[in-house]
Amino acid sequence: MYPRLPRNISLSAIARTQGRVHWHKASLPRTSRSLKLAPSQRLIGSLRMSTSSICSQSTTSDASSSRIANVPPTEPWRCHFEFDDETPTIYTFFEKMTSTWQYVVADMKQGEAIVIDPVLDYDPASGKVSTATADGLLSFARSMGLTITGIMETHAHADHLTAAHYMKEALGGNVPVGIGARIDQVQKTFAPMYGMDDPNMFQNTFDTLFHDDEPIRVGSFIGKVIHLPGHTPDHVGYVIGKAVFAGDSIFNPDVGSARADFPGGDVHDLYTSMKRLLSLPEDYRLFVGHDYPSGRDQTCSATVHEQRLRNKHVTIGTAEAEFAQWRKARDSVLGAPRLLHPSLQVNIRGGRLPPPDAEGRVWFKTPIVKPVEVKI
Ligand SMILES: [Fe+2]
Repeated sequence: MYPRLPRNISLSAIARTQGRVHWHKASLPRTSRSLKLAPSQRLIGSLRMSTSSICSQSTTSDASSSRIANVPPTEPWRCHFEFDDETPTIYTFFEKMTSTWQYVVADMKQGEAIVIDPVLDYDPASGKVSTATADGLLSFARSMGLTITGIMETHAHADHLTAAHYMKEALGGNVPVGIGARIDQVQKTFAPMYGMDDPNMFQNTFDTLFHDDEPIRVGSFIGKVIHLPGHTPDHVGYVIGKAVFAGDSIFNPDVGSARADFPGGDVHDLYTSMKRLLSLPEDYRLFVGHDYPSGRDQTCSATVHEQRLRNKHVTIGTAEAEFAQWRKARDSVLGAPRLLHPSLQVNIRGGRLPPPDAEGRVWFKTPIVKPVEVKI
């Protein structure tokens, strides 16, 4: 077990309802309320408990700060407070274009937060990249008086671009970006596919490489990393109190599971990872990386208890062979994600766009697949 820090959380908004999770809308400042900004010289410890090698200063850069000041805070879809004082406050943000859940996980007393899986907007038809979604998150954090001390990726996404690098730069360049240590496997797999032959392109693309069972912290809350391979080899989850940020290792019960056919993916690993999540205490809540609702509103999470009973693909009694057979058959008929190639070219470099050419133009590459016998 990890050390529990002394804490005297004062969350007046919490409804302590007899062991039940309480949901309510966040109350957001909608007008020019004076914002609580963090002291500019304050040093925040690293995400990682065991090292002091990465520290972050706590304010946005001047240029970014003035720009974000004009951006209205994005309103969370729901504001979720766990009922115990071991779990941080979780704000949830749904990015509709890619059906992605983004999270701001906060110690409200200390005024510190991390961001999990932020989205960089990209329209493949026009080539337009936008930071609107990321700016809304930054503005939200600022409006709540939260200092962002880390940006965490659950994995190298293949269906949306990460805003991690943009956010880091917007926050002054010292907020660490973390991902699973096996990101190197994903980089080695995809770099040749996109002609990323210069190994220097991958130097220092991430600040923190997480290993299984490694402690992490958010303010005074202590959590840990769990390695959840299968969807991708680098995939990790973050367990903080009763909140589990599971990424694409499991989806909501009526959606089931993510595909496991990307290079480095493995249905058997995915089964094991899902079972690991289902083995957590039943009142833990699994926050997913995406949601694809049918006939209901979007939902960001379900408890382990609900997942054990109702997950469409792996319940507590599902046999591995049964799941593997079904998942492989399903994956064999799935098309490639719409943003597959742009996502990978950006995400294996922590959110950086490809380097510009000699004329300053930036391109994404799309490998052509054609029958070998066809001459075109
Ligand atoms: Fe994914």
